[in-house]
Amino acid sequence: MDVMAAQDGPTGMPAPGSATAVAPGVSEPLLKLRGISKHFGAVQALYGVDLDLPNGQVTALCGDNGAGKSVLTKSIAGIHTVDAGEIFWEGRQVHITSPKDSAALGIETVYQDLALADNLDIVQNMFLGRERVTRVMLDEDSMERAAAETLASLHVTTVRSIRQPVATLSGGQRQAVAVAKAVMWNSKLVMLDEPTAALGVAQTRMVLDLILRLKEHGLAVMVISHNLNDVFEVADRVAVLRLGRMVAQDAISAFDRQSVVDFMTTGASSREVAGSGSSHERN
Ligand SMILES: Nc1ncnc2c1ncn2[C@@H]1O[C@H](COP(=O)(O)OP(=O)(O)O)[C@@H](O)[C@H]1O
Ligand SMILES: [Mg+2]
Repeated sequence: MDVMAAQDGPTGMPAPGSATAVAPGVSEPLLKLRGISKHFGAVQALYGVDLDLPNGQVTALCGDNGAGKSVLTKSIAGIHTVDAGEIFWEGRQVHITSPKDSAALGIETVYQDLALADNLDIVQNMFLGRERVTRVMLDEDSMERAAAETLASLHVTTVRSIRQPVATLSGGQRQAVAVAKAVMWNSKLVMLDEPTAALGVAQTRMVLDLILRLKEHGLAVMVISHNLNDVFEVADRVAVLRLGRMVAQDAISAFDRQSVVDFMTTGASSREVAGSGSSHERN
C-alpha cells in the first residue's frame, strides 16, 4: 500500500508567503518521479528517470518505439514495481506496488487496447470493478444517471445509447468512455497511452478535445504520442525518453517539432527555440 512519509504539513515545499496565486509549474507537481529504474532480466528499460506531472497541465511523453514510455506508464499505474527511485504524490513519498495503489491515489490509465470490456455496455464499463450496490442489488438507475451526466459534462454527444455494447462504438467513442470513467471516479491524474494512434481525423479531434477538457477540470494529464501534431496541439509540457533515459523535459515553448524529433532520435538537440530562456533538464 502507499506508505505516506511521516509528515503532517500541507506539502513538503514551504511556499513563501501565501499559497495563493502560485504560477503554474512553480507549485509542487501532483506526481514527481525521481531516479526511477526498471529492468526486465537483461533489459534495462528505465535508467534513473525523473518526471514531473503538474496539475492542470498536459504533459506529452514522447519517444521512439522501445524508449520505455509504456514501462514508465505501467510503473506509475502499479502494473510494474520499480527497482529503484522515489515517487512523490502531492509532495509526499508513496510506494505504488499494485494497480490498487495507483487507483487509490486517483490515477487512471487509459490503455490503447485494454481500456474497455467489449461485451459490456457503456454504463457497465464505467462502473466495472466499482459497481454501486444498494442492499444486494446493483443500483442501475443511479449508475445510468452518473454515467450519462459525466458523458454530458465532457460534451460527448455522439453516443446513441449508454446501454450500447462497447463493441459497437467507434475508436474515438471508446476512448471517450474510458476518459469519462476517469472523470467520473474523480481521478487526479489521467494517463493515456497512444490514445489517437488508431483514430481517424474527426475521432482524433474528439479525443484531443477531451484531453483539453480534463485539463480544464484541473487534472494532470500525461499523454503518450508519436504524433507531433497532437503534441503541439494539446501539450503544455514535453518529456522525451530515449533508450530508457529522460533526455529532455520542459515547457512546450522550449521546443519546436524538429527539436522534439532530435531528442527522440539522438538524445540531444542543437536547436534553441527563441525566447524559451530555459535549459533542458538533466539527461
Ligand atoms: N514485460 C516486459 N518484459 C521484458 N521486456 C520488456 C517488458 N516490457 C517492456 N520491455 C522492454 O522494455 C523496453 C521499453 O519498452 P516500452 O516501454 O514498451 O517501449 P515504448 O516506448 O515503445 O512504449 C523495450 O526494450 C521492451 O522490449
Ligand atoms: Mg508503448
